[in-house]
Amino acid sequence: MNNFIFQNSTKVYFGRGCVKEYLACLTKDAQTVLLGYGGGSIKRNGVYDEITSILKKAGKTIVEFSDIMSNPTYAKVQEGAKLARENHVDMVLAVGGGSTMDCCKAVCLAAQYEGDIWEDFWIHPGVIDFDPLPLGVVVTVAGTGSECNGGAVITNEEKKVKTGRDYPALNPRFALMDPTYTFSVPRKQMVSASFDILSHIMETYFSKPDEDNVSDDIMEGLMKSVVRNLRAAIEDPQDYTARSNLMWDATMAENRMIKMGKRCDFQCHNMEHQLSAFTDCNHGCGLAVLHPVYYRHIYKEGLLKFVRFAKNVWGIAPESKTEEELALAGIQALANFIREIGLPATLKELDVNQPQLKEIADSCSISQGSYKVMTHEEILEIFQECYE
Ligand code: NZQ
Ligand code: ZN
Repeated sequence: MNNFIFQNSTKVYFGRGCVKEYLACLTKDAQTVLLGYGGGSIKRNGVYDEITSILKKAGKTIVEFSDIMSNPTYAKVQEGAKLARENHVDMVLAVGGGSTMDCCKAVCLAAQYEGDIWEDFWIHPGVIDFDPLPLGVVVTVAGTGSECNGGAVITNEEKKVKTGRDYPALNPRFALMDPTYTFSVPRKQMVSASFDILSHIMETYFSKPDEDNVSDDIMEGLMKSVVRNLRAAIEDPQDYTARSNLMWDATMAENRMIKMGKRCDFQCHNMEHQLSAFTDCNHGCGLAVLHPVYYRHIYKEGLLKFVRFAKNVWGIAPESKTEEELALAGIQALANFIREIGLPATLKELDVNQPQLKEIADSCSISQGSYKVMTHEEILEIFQECYE
């Protein structure tokens, strides 16, 4: 294994009823709380009422920061930071999915910083040598794993760049994770966010080193768990076992644990982020379109890992297949699963404009962790192959 340093400072409270049990205690040191949330799902499913009544009973002043959009923008971050400063907020509570959590992480930083956080912390990696506002999160959709890392993916609309950085100082202080909060996530969103979990695992698994290592072993278990539990949650959206497993799969995929000792790829993420910067497409849907095509481009350079994926994750019997046939069968099993769960398989289905693909391809960052380091020409080829 490669050398590593591991730290994860977020304290997780997991399970049915955890918000009722712990939220008042976890916010005891704060007087004014910035409550960050999205477009209103928490008002429809009762989560907003539950949380605000706990905070009000504890005598907190609540400053509302609502309408955080999917693929949060830098302008929205600035709006939240202004609200936090003007109201002397001393804690931020993000209630939602990756978009709300990411936006609130950036708000915690921007509220305490005089300069331009986009320039100093997103375009280039920066050094956080001051205390951002403390952040707590309540997760309402399983997917990004943002609850247990310092990652925040922000879109700068003017510059047409969507990018993320992971700063340990932005790890939430606490994460409250009640799987019943995810019962109301619509099927389409549940499926795309679950594919994001699978993608995070695959982007890590398909990278060196390939000799036996604990991360690869854990990841095979996690990938099988996502597939099994997503099928169960599609069957019965109120299946607590399935929803709780998906919720913890998401955290395990992005709490840095499985990345230890691995180079990590994340080329598909780089490509999806730019697709999203130009078209505002759904993160998991974009990833679903890209993964099988990208893997058909790189499998020869990581052949034995793709063989292992076919056998250990999808249960494909080697029989008389060559290594190449097995590797391709594993990628096909992934593509079949994408279709089975109802995700798109072409960029056309995502309403991406074909003439724009070159500009999008040219704007993608190149991952050095891939089995086959891409060129912008090959990224364009992949986008074109994904088109229809
Ligand atoms: O906005 P509301 O009304 O709340 O509705 C949301 C939104 O429409 C809805 N939703 C959430 N919880 C719900 C619910 N609907 C009903 N019941 C509930 N309990 O779901 C929709 C999507 O929410 P969003 O937060 O956008 O989804 P997701 O969690 O997939 O986050 C996507 C964002 O995270 C970034 C993505 O790029 C994208 O911007 N990522 C963040 C990462 C990180 N911080 O580590 C890593 C990822 O790779 C990813 O890039
Ligand atoms: Zn992702």
